[in-house]
Amino acid sequence: MPSDVINDIRNKVDIIDIIGERIPLISRGKNFFGVCPFHDDSNPSLCVSREKQIYTCFSCHATGNVYTFLQNYEHWDFKQALKYLGDRVGIDVGIKSVQRKNPKFDRIYQAYHIALKYYQNNLASSYGKEAKKYLAQRKLDDSVIKEFEIGLSLENDDLTKLLIKKGYSLLELNQMGLSSDSRDIYKDRIMFPLYDLNGKPIAFSGRIYQDNNQNKYLNTKETELFKKGNLLYHYHIAKEEARGKKFVLVMEGFMDVIRASTIGIRNTIALMGTALTKEQIKLIRRLSPNIILCLDGDDPGQEATLKAGELFLKEGCEVKVVVLPKEEDPDTFILREGKQKFEDLIENALYFSNYKIQRYKTTKKGQSDKEKAKYINQILKETSALTDEIRIEIILKNLAKEFDIGYNTLEMRFRQMKEEKKKPEFIIPPRKKIPINKYTKAVHALIYFLLTQDFAVQETRMKHLVFPEEKYRMTFNEIFYYYDQYGKLNIADFYTYIEDKEEIRKVIDDVLQEEYENVVTQDVLQDLYKVIQENVKNLEMNRLKDKIKEEMDPIEQAKIAEQIRKLRIGD
Ligand code: CTP
Ligand code: MN
Repeated sequence: MPSDVINDIRNKVDIIDIIGERIPLISRGKNFFGVCPFHDDSNPSLCVSREKQIYTCFSCHATGNVYTFLQNYEHWDFKQALKYLGDRVGIDVGIKSVQRKNPKFDRIYQAYHIALKYYQNNLASSYGKEAKKYLAQRKLDDSVIKEFEIGLSLENDDLTKLLIKKGYSLLELNQMGLSSDSRDIYKDRIMFPLYDLNGKPIAFSGRIYQDNNQNKYLNTKETELFKKGNLLYHYHIAKEEARGKKFVLVMEGFMDVIRASTIGIRNTIALMGTALTKEQIKLIRRLSPNIILCLDGDDPGQEATLKAGELFLKEGCEVKVVVLPKEEDPDTFILREGKQKFEDLIENALYFSNYKIQRYKTTKKGQSDKEKAKYINQILKETSALTDEIRIEIILKNLAKEFDIGYNTLEMRFRQMKEEKKKPEFIIPPRKKIPINKYTKAVHALIYFLLTQDFAVQETRMKHLVFPEEKYRMTFNEIFYYYDQYGKLNIADFYTYIEDKEEIRKVIDDVLQEEYENVVTQDVLQDLYKVIQENVKNLEMNRLKDKIKEEMDPIEQAKIAEQIRKLRIGD
């Protein structure tokens, strides 16, 4: 993909729109501010510049252009970000284009691809007879097996052997969670691939299918690619589906998700037996702000519903709850009651506050008045965050009824709370200052000016500045090279150019952590040059001083002393 197309597309979109569609931005002066999605925060420390078309986080120091934002936020590769933006501005980027990958990860993807095919073959072969019987009995037919790429592991160690033949080392297979001591990890289990956010298999969950005393599920250990807390089962499919359906269904197990899929409900993700992490909440929030929790009907499931609901509320989601009978999960419910009944449940999902009131009734009966009051106040507080007056009234009526309190009393308390809860002020946090010396400051400023004003490039190149640090040499060289290639320099486009050049990216990140004058004058430039030249001079002087100390020959000593003198007077 030629870079002028990449830059052209970038030029046609406004980074404020792209980021603003994903996180709320507020305009302050020349810039826009929002809560940074790349670290855990509630302050608006992400600064987005319309003029420069870049973003900078004051706190976690993430910086970049619209492509890097999409890549990091949506977990896309460069190609996907390019295609997405290309589609928006009506530029066809074709299918063949740059794909930047980590070759080490490629080997893991490839190994898992081989394993998946191997397991699928086993299930289809005569070895798979019993397993197929089990699957049929659970009403998982061939089309489901195919769609979810379900397979079978065998008693032997053939997968390890196969992968060794394909050039993998035992150490690698061990690290990838596929083998241990030249033996297969998974023995005689029905294999469910677990996918990354883009739908690539990176782990397995193996289920027993015959009565034995083993754990029901065996999951791949955490690897470089498989981090449980950063994943959700079925995310890559739900991503597409949630858009149309306008909500996401959150379930406990992947069997629930698979079952829902058989009745055409695919805007679902499964948590897979782990406590919901912050990262997962953010991932789900990205699919839709409307969450319907549909966890198991048993007590642990309901406790998890309360916890998860609170967490989603905190993220500003709209939370509803589907309550299943005590002994059921979505899988068994759909099997027993069918599509229509399940859809009715979703249709009639309870608002989280109402769910909490109902849950309180069944679990906390006979608590002290004090505790009751605490609970009521909590619900009122949550309700005060809502804006929909009709919903507020429904919740208050429900509370009044369930706790046998006058509606007017509740309503009064509610209005009072709403008053108290004054809007949190929008305070932009100060930049986190990293202490740096005068020299580094000058280098950073110079890099910034080169990237933002053309005349500084010409001027600086003629200075032939010397940088002892490799990273700065590289940065300046790339800037000059880029300028030669394109005849102009623009910080947002430069980001795309240095995408693979990690060291330079880091330098630019550092550079953008400080504030600079908007226009640079000749005088300012000359001052910067001076500081940079001084630095080289000082380094050289120190080197000579060390040398003179070690030198025994008085004649040589005199020569060095002369050199130092010349340096000092600036000869
Ligand atoms: N899980 C696990 N290990 C276990 C039990 C459960 O990793 N020993 C995870 C699985 O990812 C599973 C999820 O927790 O999908 C939910 O567990 P559970 O409700 O027990 O699974 P079901 O979906 O009901 O599975 P099945 O119907 O096959 O029993
Ligand atoms: Mn189940």
